[in-house]
Amino acid sequence: MGRSSKDKRDIYYRKAKEEGWRARSAFKLMQIDEEFNVLSGVQKVVDLCAAPGSWSQVLSKRLRGEGKQKRDDVKIVAVDLQAMAPIPGVIQIQGDITKVSTAQEIIGHFSGEQADLVVCDGAPDVTGLHDIDEYIQAQLLLAALNITTHVLKKGGGFVAKIFRGKDITLLYSQLKIFFPDVTVAKPRSSRNSSIESFVVCRGYAPPEGYVPNMMNPLLDHHYDVDFNSLAGVNRVIVPFLACGDLSGYDADMTYPLQLPQGEAYVQLPPTQGPISPPYQHACQLKRQDQLSKPITAHNTDPTDNTETVTDTDRDSSAPSSDVLGATGGHTEEHATVTDMEKLKL
Ligand SMILES: C[S@@+](CC[C@H](N)C(=O)[O-])C[C@H]1O[C@@H](n2cnc3c(N)ncnc32)[C@H](O)[C@@H]1O
Repeated sequence: MGRSSKDKRDIYYRKAKEEGWRARSAFKLMQIDEEFNVLSGVQKVVDLCAAPGSWSQVLSKRLRGEGKQKRDDVKIVAVDLQAMAPIPGVIQIQGDITKVSTAQEIIGHFSGEQADLVVCDGAPDVTGLHDIDEYIQAQLLLAALNITTHVLKKGGGFVAKIFRGKDITLLYSQLKIFFPDVTVAKPRSSRNSSIESFVVCRGYAPPEGYVPNMMNPLLDHHYDVDFNSLAGVNRVIVPFLACGDLSGYDADMTYPLQLPQGEAYVQLPPTQGPISPPYQHACQLKRQDQLSKPITAHNTDPTDNTETVTDTDRDSSAPSSDVLGATGGHTEEHATVTDMEKLKL
């Protein structure tokens, strides 16, 4: 797919570059906030699974402000397995959200205080096997919820990405243990063709006597329960709400490029490419024609003839990624292609 056809095909991808967001995901958080005011009154916030950082950019802009108006009492802590380029006013932790040490590091930055809001746009690398992807996504959500119980103040909010699969009712019930108010939101910028949605949880109120604990599983994972067989109060229907301006851009539509007459289209580069992404090594191997080949005497040195992966290379090969310039997993799509196919290697 050509670079300008990607810009045509995905309006939010194009707009993100025009407006300086690192990923099209920025629009999702902004549209969730438009509907639920989740950022209102927030001073301390944790952005879990934050790389490359478009949500952190939104948080920084909205909460901290810019220039002379900027507030110094706002604290934003962003966490990801991957390194992120700096963002003004955002403390970055490179860590795993399933680790208690990460929770402790986050709390350390709040000088013993707790967060008003935790957001999590976490996504594992998709395999293309839907059941497995849904399960892993649910596990990541529970890890995010678990870490949230360590850092969130009572009454605080939690916004997290989910895949709306058949076990959604179970997840919803699990979240309801901690939040009296749970809604599932589908921002306009999230493609209808994707099963991605976001839970918006408000009024954090853990059960009486609940002690956050990273050692034991937070919740009992009975994924084999048939929730459709439940009735009455035992059956909970998840409230589902579309958000964002419904007359605005449709994430599944193709929009023509807006060109002043006679002018050629100028394709913008990604705002910020990923730093040392996991697929970089695979790209290098492919360039050296060493991918999937048995190691032999003549190709044992992987550093030989190494080329750097440029943003341009990555950009032109991942039409469905939210992250501008990325080809790895982490897409909002429930991808049916493998990372290797996406790389067009
Ligand atoms: C869709 S991206 C997040 C995009 C981000 N919200 C933004 O706006 O730029 C998903 C991220 O989840 C991260 N992730 C997945 N598992 C994680 C884990 N266990 N701990 C920390 N980060 C994780 C990935 O590294 C990836 O950067």
